[in-house]
Amino acid sequence: MERTLFGISAWTRQMLAEELVGPGRTYVGAELPGGSLVGYAGIWFDGRDAQVMTVATDPGYQGRGIARRMLVTLLERARALGAESVLLEVRVDNAPAIHLYETLGFTQLGRRRGYYQPENVDAWTMQLLLPREVREVREVRPEQEAS
Ligand SMILES: CC(C)(COP(=O)(O)OP(=O)(O)OC[C@H]1O[C@@H](n2cnc3c(N)ncnc32)[C@H](O)[C@@H]1OP(=O)(O)O)[C@@H](O)C(=O)NCCC(=O)NCCS
Repeated sequence: MERTLFGISAWTRQMLAEELVGPGRTYVGAELPGGSLVGYAGIWFDGRDAQVMTVATDPGYQGRGIARRMLVTLLERARALGAESVLLEVRVDNAPAIHLYETLGFTQLGRRRGYYQPENVDAWTMQLLLPREVREVREVRPEQEAS
C-alpha cells in the first residue's frame, strides 16, 4: 500500500517498522472485519506540538471516510497529550488531502519550495491550533478587572 500510494517517496519496510516504534509516535490502522489493513495514519508528539507523519488509505477503499476517521482519532490523541497545535506538510498538488485537512480545520502556514525530492514539488505547511479547554470559570466583576 505504501509503495502504491507514495511511489518513489515511499518508506521502506524497515523505515516503517522503525517509525512505528519511534519516540512520541501514535499510529492507528483501519481494518476490515476480517483483519485486512486498509488504512494507516500516525502522529509524532514532540512534547509541544504534534506532527502528522503520514495518512494513507488503500485505493480500493478511498472516499469512504476512512482517512477522516483516522485523523479525528489522532487529533483527539494530540489534544489528550496536551499538544498546542498539529502540523503537517502536504504536496501542493494533492487536492484530496488538502480538502480533507481544510475540512478538519487546518489552515495554510506557508509554502516549502522543492520539499518533495526528487520530484521537486512544493509543500504547503498546514496547522491546526488546539486551544486548551477552559478548566476553570471564575466570575470577574468590572471593579476587579480595573484594579
Ligand atoms: C488523502 C487520502 C489519505 C484520503 O483518504 P480517504 O480515506 O479517501 O479520505 P476520506 O474518504 O476520509 O475523504 C476525506 C475527504 O477527501 C475527499 N476526497 C477523497 N478522495 C478524493 C478525490 N479523489 N478527489 C477529491 N477529493 C477527495 C473526500 O471528498 C472527503 O471529503 P468530504 O468528506 O468532504 O467528502 C487518500 O487519498 C490517500 O491515501 N492518498 C495517497 C496518500 C496521500 O496523499 N496521503 C496524504 C499525504 S499528506
